[in-house]
Amino acid sequence: TDIDPFITGLPKAELHLHIEGSLEPELMFALAERNKVAIPFASVDEVRAAYAFSNLQDFLDIYYAGAAVLCTRQDFHDLASAYFARAAADGVLHAEIMFDPQTHTDRGISFAEVVEGLLSAMAEAKDKYGMTSQLILCFLRHLSEEAAFETLRQAEPWLDRITAVGLDSSEVGHPPAKFARVFAAARAKGLKITVHAGEEGPPAYVYEALDLIGTDRIDHGNRAMEDPVLVRRLREEGKTLTVCPLSNLKLCVVGDLQQHPIDRMLQAGLAATVNSDDPAYFGGYIADNYRAVAEARGLSREHLATLARNSFLGSFLPSEQIAAHI
Ligand code: ADE
Ligand code: ZN
Repeated sequence: TDIDPFITGLPKAELHLHIEGSLEPELMFALAERNKVAIPFASVDEVRAAYAFSNLQDFLDIYYAGAAVLCTRQDFHDLASAYFARAAADGVLHAEIMFDPQTHTDRGISFAEVVEGLLSAMAEAKDKYGMTSQLILCFLRHLSEEAAFETLRQAEPWLDRITAVGLDSSEVGHPPAKFARVFAAARAKGLKITVHAGEEGPPAYVYEALDLIGTDRIDHGNRAMEDPVLVRRLREEGKTLTVCPLSNLKLCVVGDLQQHPIDRMLQAGLAATVNSDDPAYFGGYIADNYRAVAEARGLSREHLATLARNSFLGSFLPSEQIAAHI
């Protein structure tokens, strides 16, 4: 449609992207072969057919299984390099990349292997596309507080190249409070913070992310819309929400995109942004996400420009770089 060149041409930042979630089935097969890792699929078509999820956990089970093909720094480089090519084509000028070190270190892959592969792809993206990027180290919330502390210790030599820490994986039953101390330790080391909250979990988890962790951003935040007092607080604090429409559809956070709250979030004065979450699993990169909500919710070009502008305002870039983008 004629909105496509407008969307691609909008300068955008991607703030919510799990690099392991950008593993396309073709690369999964290539890496399985290269590393002699068995995967429970016979073909690329079979992999795509398995991508029918009824909730977050359904997806996570397949996502962690897929990540088992990632073994060497070259693999992590290739993974991120492929993402940056897609993002550049979509008009992304700055990307804040989440990664899940525990998914790899628990399989015996060293932290160094993961992070060095990502960092070399980030340097390449700067050279090739002029794209800036930052790393967000995510703790897996279904694992223990102690395991998160151990991961933070492993990250120590790279903390000058890691911008933020995040909290992802199975939300319900693993409230932010479980990780209040590890986030306090990360904050003391100068790291920014972003927490998945209100994707499947209740508004109470969003309050915990704010009150007990002091998060800089909320990843998803959909269910905050159930609580008008919380909505007012998020507006007054100018808290950025990194919303992921196609993810919300595929994980059944919304029944269909016609019910997606993105325009109600903007209407409520929230600093909402549009992002791709796990694009290889959810059927689209960032421009596809903008297009999907533009069509389903009839967003104007002004709305789309506001979402894109919010992405830079909510980024962890230094303020002078934000100013240069908006
Ligand atoms: N890890 C990757 N994608 C995620 C999501 N949408 N929610 C929680 N954890 C995730
Ligand atoms: Zn996510």
